Amino acid sequence: MNILGISAFYHDSAAALVRDGEIIAAAQEERFTRKKHDNQFPSNAVDYCLEAGALTAEQLDYVVFYEKPLETYIGYAPRGFRQFLMGMPLWLRLKLHLPREMDRALQNKYKGRYVFTEHHESHAASAFFPSPFDEAAILTFDAVGEWATASFGTGRDNKIELTHTMQFPHSLGLLYSAFTYFTGFRVNSGEYKMMGLAPYGEPKYYELIMDKLIDLKEDGSFRLDMSYLPYCHKTVMTGAKFEKLFGGPPRKSGTPLTQREMDIAASIQVVAEEVMLRAARNVHRQTGMKNLVLAGGVFLNCVGNGRILREGPLQTAGLSTGTRL
Ligand SMILES: [Fe+2]
Repeated sequence: MNILGISAFYHDSAAALVRDGEIIAAAQEERFTRKKHDNQFPSNAVDYCLEAGALTAEQLDYVVFYEKPLETYIGYAPRGFRQFLMGMPLWLRLKLHLPREMDRALQNKYKGRYVFTEHHESHAASAFFPSPFDEAAILTFDAVGEWATASFGTGRDNKIELTHTMQFPHSLGLLYSAFTYFTGFRVNSGEYKMMGLAPYGEPKYYELIMDKLIDLKEDGSFRLDMSYLPYCHKTVMTGAKFEKLFGGPPRKSGTPLTQREMDIAASIQVVAEEVMLRAARNVHRQTGMKNLVLAGGVFLNCVGNGRILREGPLQTAGLSTGTRL
């Protein structure tokens, strides 16, 4: 059984070949094109995977795309989410005709059907299946996929069941990205820089963020005050109300970093860690499982992962972070 997995048209396109449950090859397209975060169809990565498996596209049993095509769910999406999508660039229009695009990219050689898994299922699979566990609790935190922003559930043997989700616009990934933007870094790229900036600051704005921006529950679920975060209806991540709260406009990329950015970075970092810790504890309470696997772009936050490891309730391993936000 040869399965080719593909992600494309968002950021960091990639392909992977799985044969009878073993990963034969996996690669990101940027490694071949030398274009950072390359989001084109990963033709080079696909070729590489097929070559590694000594296969042609005709011999594939399944080709799987990492999330549902837009047209299958856009009609049911919350209104804010549809507006959010309208502000998105060209890749989105490509996703509307995904099977056609995939046919073209595979040169019409693949005759089987395309399988579309849900975005958070894909993240969950990326963490659970390669983990050393026969069973584990699964927690995902992300920007947004379809319109889910976080999920948890369990994995047992070869089955994954995600029982709980949180939904757009309430997203830890998008909240963290809004602060990434505000501190002058590139969204979906510079999040690690803001995390690296955090230890140079004091979390002076922690209470303010908890007070105004996020209503965080004991179980790690939350609601965001969207009047501060206009990404639902505009193409910007923060607006005038957000600027007022943090004493001025966003830092312009390339200008010097000041203590303000460091303190903001420290503050949102602690908020993110608090959400991650509460959610991890809740997942443990709810599932009773002693293993936890983590995936989704938010878990690229290795500082937060470290806190779950040290302060969380579990024997945490398989800190397998997805590369998708
Ligand atoms: Fe994702």
